[in-house]
Amino acid sequence: MKITVVGAGAVGATTADNIIRRELAEELVLLDIKEGVAEGKSLDMYQTAALLNFNTKPVGSTNDYEKTKGSDVVVITSGLPRKPGMTREELIGINAGIVKSVTDNILKYSPKAIIVVVSNPMDTMTYLALRESGIPKKRIIGMGGALDSARFKTYLALEMNVSPNDIHGMVIGGHGDTTMIPLTRLATYNGIPVSRFIAADKLDKVAADTMVGGATLTKLIGTSAWYAPGAATAMIVESIVRNQKRIVPCSVMLNGEYGQKDICMGVPVVIGKGGWEKIINLRLSDAEKASFAKSAEAVRNMNAALDA
Ligand code: NAI
Repeated sequence: MKITVVGAGAVGATTADNIIRRELAEELVLLDIKEGVAEGKSLDMYQTAALLNFNTKPVGSTNDYEKTKGSDVVVITSGLPRKPGMTREELIGINAGIVKSVTDNILKYSPKAIIVVVSNPMDTMTYLALRESGIPKKRIIGMGGALDSARFKTYLALEMNVSPNDIHGMVIGGHGDTTMIPLTRLATYNGIPVSRFIAADKLDKVAADTMVGGATLTKLIGTSAWYAPGAATAMIVESIVRNQKRIVPCSVMLNGEYGQKDICMGVPVVIGKGGWEKIINLRLSDAEKASFAKSAEAVRNMNAALDA
């Protein structure tokens, strides 16, 4: 198994770190356009092998795609992150060019790779990667819902003063501050609806905090977050590599599911060795259906900016 992570910035390096610690591949290639950065971070990470006892070898590359040849899974994190006050949507112009050229280069050397797109605005970048590459849709997975759901579970756990491990919950829809849909109705504390433990107004606040979860961190840190994004991305990679069939909300191409077509948006999918293998159709309430349709409209408008 060989895995490539493109972009050795905060999210790419954290993703790589999570992947090598879990020994998901024999070799991990970390590639960045900035001279020496991927090589340096890979060497730094490899020096943890003697301390942490893992056997995956990280290899750095400054834009030499030949080193990525024959990758089974490729994660794309290259691109600008948000600064305080910015929306993910404002990144579209510059990141579209980067994601397009990276996808072309990757597929030249790894035509069978499963691609996990992280760069923002992620739903539009996933759509772009799929449209430009023309590879089977099940091989392109956008990472957003995995992170948003982790944030949702954390805010629920904080409110209830319990462990996030005991909370189940999902965020679907677009990966944007106003487009994501935390499914409060379906969230549970070990199978018991959380509404039994939290008052309605508090539950609404948890949902609102989740939606601006990324912006809250960007304001605090001065740039966007990396620990949870890296862990969420590695979780998806692990489900592919180990064929775990985990159900994870991911941005995938819809063809009538959830009432939408020709759009990549977050819905629960089964992740296994073939990429996303199956969409899980949740029975949404009328209000949730309306939120999904509204979210789709916003994502569609953003996709239109690709051709503007
Ligand atoms: P960063 O600035 O720390 O790292 C980005 C890296 O990409 C830099 O090292 C840069 O040199 C590299 N890069 C730029 N153009 C490149 C190219 N053509 N080829 C190879 N490498 C290139 O940014 P960070 O924080 O790692 O974020 C990366 C992206 O991930 C951003 O677009 C950010 O908004 C997005 N993101 C998405 C999340 C999600 O849930 N989908 C969560 C967090 C961040």
